[in-house]
Amino acid sequence: MKITIHEASQYVDQEVTIGGWIANKRSSGKIAFLQLRDGTGFMQGVVVKADVAEEVFANAKSVSQESSVFVTGVIQKDERSPFGYEMLVHNLEIISESVDYPITPKAHGTEFLMDHRHLWLRSKRQHAVMQIRNEIIRATYEFFNQEGFVKVDPPILTGSAPEGTTELFATKYFDEDAYLSQSGQLYMEAAAMALGKVFSFGPTFRAEKSKTRRHLIEFWMIEPEMAFYQFDDNLKVQEEYVSHIVRSVLENCGLALKTLERDTAKLEKIKAPFPRITYDKAIEFLHKEGFTDIEWGDDFGSPHETAIAESFDMPVFITHYPTSLKPFYMQPDPERQEVVLCADLIAPEGYGEIIGGSERIHDYSKLEANIAEHGLDEEAYKWYMDLRKYGSVPHSGFGLGLERTVAWLSGVEHVRETIPFPRLLNRLYP
Ligand code: 4AD
Ligand code: MG
Repeated sequence: MKITIHEASQYVDQEVTIGGWIANKRSSGKIAFLQLRDGTGFMQGVVVKADVAEEVFANAKSVSQESSVFVTGVIQKDERSPFGYEMLVHNLEIISESVDYPITPKAHGTEFLMDHRHLWLRSKRQHAVMQIRNEIIRATYEFFNQEGFVKVDPPILTGSAPEGTTELFATKYFDEDAYLSQSGQLYMEAAAMALGKVFSFGPTFRAEKSKTRRHLIEFWMIEPEMAFYQFDDNLKVQEEYVSHIVRSVLENCGLALKTLERDTAKLEKIKAPFPRITYDKAIEFLHKEGFTDIEWGDDFGSPHETAIAESFDMPVFITHYPTSLKPFYMQPDPERQEVVLCADLIAPEGYGEIIGGSERIHDYSKLEANIAEHGLDEEAYKWYMDLRKYGSVPHSGFGLGLERTVAWLSGVEHVRETIPFPRLLNRLYP
């Protein structure tokens, strides 16, 4: 019977075969402990010299790290390991030997590991982070489907720039100029007018020369957009959604969280509703905390965000930013034109902004004026203006950055470990 490590609990006391790799091993004269991995998990295989053919024990002693193998043996309960099961190995067949595997159990520097990202992904820690990433994606589809949203896929090659023109990857689209999508939002607005409540999930690109632990050049975003939703309705969706993914990760990724030594008590507390603070109040708070380098009208840097986040043990919405700091499509507060009906959601523990969202301008002439004021090419936004021409309605939406969310829930320091093949400043390999 061929099984995976993930299925081991169903085969206690039965003889099974598993195809996998040798992650690590140690042995003495009489016994060898093989750390097996097969993609679905990690499990110990125990080879007792007295119980197996001579050749099997010799192979167990000599097999090199990351050699691929078939192991056959009996699954047993193992109370001491976090996984809970091990295999008493009867037979070990080497499929392909791995010679001089570069990533050894000793510590390696980050650049070395990043150069070997294609192999680094096999490690227990990276495996755990990818499990959490997968669970967030799964829970995202679950949440939005339960709430009656339709998944819509916006294009990657576009002629428009929702988030400002300075960070675009330009390319040729035959004879035309095109850009890699910074955000699917504008297309999602069109989709919301067709389908009501929609969400997207896809890669987005920012030619941003930022070298921080929160910035990737290519990152994945979840972008919901809802017709007839206003500022408050939008925040409710966000806090319910984020609470749902946190709960799902806690419920379904216990082993991964343990591997990463994540302090889950901090995550257990995360439940809607989330606290809200206006930009004005945030500035006052920062002044009180001794940040003299920031004034009304300035954008927050990460030390500011972290200071604000640290005064709550929940994600916090910072709302009503100055209009001048935000993109052209955001709805000004009708009572106060100098701020917009937007919110950024700041994660706890210094992970920074995980969501940016707002109510959108639905008035034709206001939007037309903003496009002109921001120096955007009117021709490229003609279709977007049409949404305000033919039955315009108030609507809102947001974008959640997947990698920052994975970093927060996994408790890993840098977003480079949260995506299989990170695209960073100066890194396109592997
Ligand atoms: O705040 P941003 O730029 O908002 C938008 O793109 C909107 N159009 C979304 C919408 O309303 N549909 O980006 C949204 C989120 C950020 O909060 C952050 O989590 C993530 O995307 N993000 C990045 N993640 C990693 N690397 C980068 N360079 C990122 N830039 C933004
Ligand atoms: Mg933002």
